[in-house]
Amino acid sequence: MSAAAAGPGAASEARAVESRGASAGNAAVGAAGAGPPLVAVRGLVKHFPVHGGVLRRTVAWVQAVDQVDLEVRRGETLGLVGESGCGKTTVGRLILRLIDPTSGAISFDGQDITHLRGGALKPYRRRMQIIFQDPFASLDPRLPIADSIGEGLRIHGIGSPAQRREKVRQMMDRVGLAPYQARRYPHEFSGGQRQRIGIARALVLEPDLVVCDEPVSALDVSIQAQVLNLLKSLQRELGLTYLFIAHNMGVVEHISDRVAVMYLGKVAEVADRQDLFRDAQHPYTQALLSAVPIPDPELRRKRVILRGDVPSPVHPPKGCRFNPRCQLRAELGNPEICAAQEPELLQIGTSEHEVACHFRGNGLGVASVAGSSLPTN
Ligand SMILES: Nc1ncnc2c1ncn2[C@@H]1O[C@H](COP(=O)(O)OP(=O)(O)OP(=O)(O)O)[C@@H](O)[C@H]1O
Ligand code: SF4
Ligand SMILES: [Mg+2]
Repeated sequence: MSAAAAGPGAASEARAVESRGASAGNAAVGAAGAGPPLVAVRGLVKHFPVHGGVLRRTVAWVQAVDQVDLEVRRGETLGLVGESGCGKTTVGRLILRLIDPTSGAISFDGQDITHLRGGALKPYRRRMQIIFQDPFASLDPRLPIADSIGEGLRIHGIGSPAQRREKVRQMMDRVGLAPYQARRYPHEFSGGQRQRIGIARALVLEPDLVVCDEPVSALDVSIQAQVLNLLKSLQRELGLTYLFIAHNMGVVEHISDRVAVMYLGKVAEVADRQDLFRDAQHPYTQALLSAVPIPDPELRRKRVILRGDVPSPVHPPKGCRFNPRCQLRAELGNPEICAAQEPELLQIGTSEHEVACHFRGNGLGVASVAGSSLPTN
């Protein structure tokens, strides 16, 4: 990915469309984030085996997700951003229990679901849904879209056939699909319409959590805006909680309440959206943000060009995983601790802003590690 690749176009257009549609006024669900989190992951690890040789033995492990702690609060949108391959989708799939973690724990609505299987997991499957980047790939080309949308209702044995048809009709209406389109096939729709089908398919089951995995990345900017606004109004209307995976910082800024930034399988920074966009503390987040164009021609951001590519997750760098590319470390004269000790994700003061950097908080160049013999200029 190039950081913030598509720029803020979709986001600013989405804001405009949204303010035009505001008078339609969906009933707002209560304040986001109140009470215990809907999802909490602790020490989450996922290592995928790499097979090699004639015997297909395991020769190495891809450290896709490594010791991730995250919370998704009720009614909020948590944006999850980072370069390609940093583990965003894997975190989403782990939370949905589509894949098993190597270690760590996942709780949903206060229940530990880490090791649930079969019938015990089924109710949670209904309550957690996913919207994919490419809805075409997730839709059966041989099924009329109404059947695809209603498939989950059938699988979960919800309602009679007539009730299911009515639910599908209502959901199609909510996402802006016309009744005459019900018997059409996926190839007869545009990309934006297909994403609406994907959204209807996920939401017809009335989930609590929706993992939106790059749902607008493949769409034109103007269509992105419509889909983002649709997701936001459905969230308000239905009280949904979103884990919104994206690499476009403009989109993330538009849709998120809080943002978690991932780098090479780890969370580098988590903060309230405004906090993060105003006062990013991790050098990686600062580099991502430096690529977001500012609409005001009078203002310019100093562009931070990250050196090199993301290292292989099979052999991540020792110490801080970002250290070979870190502009702050270079400015500080390459302090040893960055390559020797992994920084923990820690709060800055009493705020809810968490950063994994030995030099977090207090501005650039101030070592926050007690007893370190690092330069503090
Ligand atoms: N089933 C799998 N088997 C082996 N490796 C995998 C598997 N799934 C993901 N990976 C690896 O895990 C790492 C993280 O992948 P993931 O898809 O979570 O990244 P991502 O942040 O979603 O990237 P993108 O932005 O490109 O979608 C990558 O190195 C990927 O190659
Ligand atoms: S710990 Fe060091 S290498 Fe890592 S982000 Fe902070 S300054 Fe950069
Ligand atoms: Mg992905």
